[in-house]
Amino acid sequence: MNFENIIVTQQENIANITINRPTKLNALNKKTIEELHKAFSALDANVRVKAIIVTGSGEKAFVAGADISEFASFTVEEGTELARHGQKILFDFVQNLKTPVIAAVNGFALGGGLELAMAAHFRVASTNAKMGLPEVSLGVIPGYGGTQRLSQLVGKGKAMEMIMTAGMITAAEAKEWGLVNYVVEQEELLPFCEKLAGKIARNSSVAIAAAIKAINANYTNCVNGFSVEIEQFGLSFDTADFKEGTTAFLEKRKPKFE
Ligand code: COA
Repeated sequence: MNFENIIVTQQENIANITINRPTKLNALNKKTIEELHKAFSALDANVRVKAIIVTGSGEKAFVAGADISEFASFTVEEGTELARHGQKILFDFVQNLKTPVIAAVNGFALGGGLELAMAAHFRVASTNAKMGLPEVSLGVIPGYGGTQRLSQLVGKGKAMEMIMTAGMITAAEAKEWGLVNYVVEQEELLPFCEKLAGKIARNSSVAIAAAIKAINANYTNCVNGFSVEIEQFGLSFDTADFKEGTTAFLEKRKPKFE
């Protein structure tokens, strides 16, 4: 896959997407969002890919936000469409992928950058990372799901504070708040995420996809997460992975999921 603003690599069954606009601190312009959509879509359709790690290039930023230069002169209609389209093709899209996505937050994750990290299934940060939703300092609000996902991850009070102050929190604070799962040294970030991805890759992708669906159901309006869990649990019984997983356990051997 050849792109202008992102780099996609794959080692065995783990894929890496690196957002690569370092001179603009990897800010998400239209083209980058479209390329990310294409890359995530292709990797999710590839049965050999068991986990995706998304990160930013350089040592300074994961993503410093949506590209401000692109929307500075937008109208109400254009602004609305920017958020609607972006949520559809990237942020909701990533959240609902069947392949697990880990955000390796290697520096500034601001605005759309933090929103992308929050759309991933979970996050690991490097010690130098700084996170925030500074949109109100620009006279706008988060539009790529930030008001919703930040509240879900850190609670309403902390989300209110972060959004209202437009401030940044450190990696250590993000861990304390539950926004990231781990904090590691920058040079350890990708190896650490790859190790986690490796653990995920040993399990049943079919079951993991069902678990993602059930967990996300709790955050979807008018959907009963418990009912989705029951349905997905039941469907597991008809999969080859279930037969292999349970047979392997009873035969006291490691499962081999195809
Ligand atoms: N959109 C467009 N360009 C951006 C950007 C963004 N969100 N964030 C950074 N850049 C660009 C800068 O304009 C600058 O480009 P230039 O060299 O052509 O002038 C380049 O990236 C480097 O950024 P700079 O501001 O010089 O780096 P810094 O170390 O002084 O500050 C930040 C780093 C992250 C604090 C600062 O870039 C910043 O506040 N960015 C905007 C964050 C934001 O508000 N995001 C939410 C957008 S909705």
